[in-house]
Amino acid sequence: PALPPFQNEPPVDFTRPEARAAMSEALRVVRDQFGRFYPLVLNGREVATGVEFTSTDPGASETIVGRFAQARPLDARDAISIARERFGAWSATPAVDRASVLLKAASLMRAKRSTLSAWEVYECGKPWREADGDVAEAIDFCEFYAREMIRLAEGRHRDVPGETNAIERIARGVAAVIPPWNFPLAIPTGMTVAALVAGNTVVLKPSERSPRIALLLAEVLREAGLPEGVLTVLPGFGDVGKALVDDPRVNLIAFTGSRDVGLEINRKAAEPAPGQDHVKRVIAEMGGKNAIIVDDDSDLDEAVVGVLQSAFGYAGQKCSACSRVIVLDGIYDAFVGRLVDAARALPVGPADNPDTAVGPVIDAKARERIEGYKTIAEGEGDVVLSVDVGSLAARGNYVGPLIVAGVRPDARIAQEEVFGPVLAVLRACNLDEALRIANGTVYALTGGLYSRSPANIDHVKREFRVGNLYVNRPITGALVDRQPFGGFQLSGIGTKAGGTDYLLEFLLTRTITENT
Ligand code: SER
Repeated sequence: PALPPFQNEPPVDFTRPEARAAMSEALRVVRDQFGRFYPLVLNGREVATGVEFTSTDPGASETIVGRFAQARPLDARDAISIARERFGAWSATPAVDRASVLLKAASLMRAKRSTLSAWEVYECGKPWREADGDVAEAIDFCEFYAREMIRLAEGRHRDVPGETNAIERIARGVAAVIPPWNFPLAIPTGMTVAALVAGNTVVLKPSERSPRIALLLAEVLREAGLPEGVLTVLPGFGDVGKALVDDPRVNLIAFTGSRDVGLEINRKAAEPAPGQDHVKRVIAEMGGKNAIIVDDDSDLDEAVVGVLQSAFGYAGQKCSACSRVIVLDGIYDAFVGRLVDAARALPVGPADNPDTAVGPVIDAKARERIEGYKTIAEGEGDVVLSVDVGSLAARGNYVGPLIVAGVRPDARIAQEEVFGPVLAVLRACNLDEALRIANGTVYALTGGLYSRSPANIDHVKREFRVGNLYVNRPITGALVDRQPFGGFQLSGIGTKAGGTDYLLEFLLTRTITENT
């Protein structure tokens, strides 16, 4: 029977008392599991690696969320061997059966929704609403790519008298999936299930900051019927990622993370190792230095809220986050004044408190890096807001929102990705200058405009070169299918997660012609 058309999973409405109660209960259940040990599992068997590492709550550095057997490069090589062994049977499994594993996984995630969100709250410091959005997106990826694979598996037929032509899609082989921690379920799920449904086998190296959530993904997929060994999760560090990237038996690398690592993967993958018989396909989604332009006729109420949400949601730790706001001269002072007042009112605190708007940043290293940018900001503009986190500083990795105004377009704070709650305000004398500033970085991921002028909106739609452009709304939170997500220039290779072109990245195309 045909599947109903794809629909985005609606967010949980936490104003409902039942939803709040369910989430509080899930948080409690997760707290009860803190500190457990998770072994490394290869092909259904536990492997003693001799080393373990911990994952801690970013908002309460003393709290150990879980302990993990640390995978080693040799485990990566074993996992690739297993993935190669499993490739024949899995790639030969009918696409519709592979798709049904994803659909089952989606329904399991729905059933576990608040538990999955609760793990994100504690392992990654995601406030409730953001954690829930991430789980919803993971469900969407499963539902969407299942349908996409069924569509692509039909192939294309172009027959003429005396000749049949069939175009068919086949899997590439072994995929190494290397996701970040900031969308700890959605991004690993999206890249992993895209690879799997296309018929590839997968070795997933999650971020060392979010291993628990990656293991939950593996659990869901196993429960959904994914055969043993078709997916292996390797909780570990960069040496494991490197072993995957370097291995000549890997056919495809799907990476989301920093620009430097993405470029290094791309460079390494370009050079075949001795004896390697294929070119590795790289899918890399990297950073951003995203700008919102605020036109002088824009609705300030909307613009202020949209900029705040885009800049400080999840403490600015999104590749899609707004880190530059470019304000037209005529509205500059009014906008900055209101922005600062509104930002000052954002509650900063632990992610498990439902009132928190700005939670902690991921770890101490991130906090130090962001603090370093605060010092840079002081030298590059007027710091118009710097929220002191007070006693929270002793508890966890808290950084208060910072807004620096009067920044020049070439300043470091206007060019470098900070990945934290730091927003630079730049002044433009007209829309063309605003666009020049907006386009004046190496990145091209998201961008936004607040304006009420149809002519200006059209102009910006034509000239603002980013992968995802948003008009009169925040610039984060792309929805699967509705807003295929990804950038170009040094933001990425140009693939669009959650779009109809995405699965093609994970597939090869064959053309078969028969003279009849
Ligand atoms: N897809 C996310 C967003 O749109 C970023 O990874 O915010």
